[in-house]
Amino acid sequence: MSTKGKVIKCKAAVAWEIGKPLCIEEVEVAPPKAQEVRIQIIAVAVCHTDIHIIHPKNTEFNFPVILGHESAGIVESVGPGVTSFKPGDKVIPFYAPQCRKCKFCLSPLTNLCVKIGSFENPLSSQNLMEDKTSRFTCKGKSVNHFLGISAFSQYTVVSDTNLCKIDSDVNLERICLLGCGFSTGYGAAINTAKVTPGSTCAIFGLGGVGLSAVIGCKVAGASRIIAVDINSEKFTKAKALGATDCLNPRDQQKPIQDVIIEMTNGGVDFAFDCVGGTEVMKAALNCTTVGWGSCTLIGVAMDSKEMILSPLEILMGRTVNGTFFGGWKSKDSIPKLVTDYKNKKFNLDVLITNTLPFDKINEAFDLMLQGKSIRTVLTF
Ligand code: APR
Ligand code: ZN
Repeated sequence: MSTKGKVIKCKAAVAWEIGKPLCIEEVEVAPPKAQEVRIQIIAVAVCHTDIHIIHPKNTEFNFPVILGHESAGIVESVGPGVTSFKPGDKVIPFYAPQCRKCKFCLSPLTNLCVKIGSFENPLSSQNLMEDKTSRFTCKGKSVNHFLGISAFSQYTVVSDTNLCKIDSDVNLERICLLGCGFSTGYGAAINTAKVTPGSTCAIFGLGGVGLSAVIGCKVAGASRIIAVDINSEKFTKAKALGATDCLNPRDQQKPIQDVIIEMTNGGVDFAFDCVGGTEVMKAALNCTTVGWGSCTLIGVAMDSKEMILSPLEILMGRTVNGTFFGGWKSKDSIPKLVTDYKNKKFNLDVLITNTLPFDKINEAFDLMLQGKSIRTVLTF
């Protein structure tokens, strides 16, 4: 029996309040409105950004909310005006929309799009659909969307600007990583920093995002890739993916940036913060060489809104870049990344350390917080 046009009752993980575990609930998912698509989520991975939202320090988010933004699924039905998707299409939703009409979409210089809503607060924009209403209800209450995706639900509704169709022969339980972690880390190296062959790179934080940056540096031809993490258990995988040196700041007598500067005759060409937190961001900037060193910020800084820089650090030729979704124009690029994956240009399977049934979502959060997983993929 077709569900088109009807409310779907299904399972979702609802974050009712800050600092509390997610609750598996039955939710109602309204049909898609104009230019919207309702999808059945088949696989969703946990990313550290999901964890940031329920962190007790984060006071800026409106609860309740259905988190989840690294996913893949199948179109269930489409709303009026949707022409490029049909039921049964395999799709990846993303939080970096591409409307193809705004000044940013028309510029080759950025992958931002006005549909993000707020550039000051991108994490809490897209928490409602474009008509400022939610498609989710639970126990009679309206529940917020997250990043325009809300993939911790068996069914969700997304705008057709936040979605791309992918080949029907790919494994959704793996390719879901293109929805955030892989694309962000890999794209930071390829698109944002534009890592050059023979260069020296330092990557801070070896979670799903950082290891994807390692893969990006390797694909770009970097000759030295210095991988930094306070958890030495991450080093085996980093080396397997191309890291040439691994450093644990806690094992060093000097600040990590000084160690890296010494190792590299004055600093690296490219550094990446894949942790979040201004202290690591500063260390990443300071370990780059004067003259041309480039530092790319990827992590979400929850500790502070401001980062203090000395003008001299910049005056001496360093640059600081930021990356949003790895700089990919999402609709144009994700299908190409799927092709690259199929052609084995990179291996994202190695980033998936755990697979769990959806109901064990809080276990997946704990595994990440304890440093025991890179990516846990949840299936319904
Ligand atoms: N120095 C170096 N590494 C650190 C430090 C530090 N001071 N603090 C934490 N780490 C390491 C952790 O040990 C972990 O291996 O950073 C890694 C972070 O990985 P994950 O928790 O798996 O997070 P990930 O999903 O990769 O996201 C990283 O990018 O998208 C953002 O919001 C996300 O800020 C987060 C970051
Ligand atoms: Zn993410």
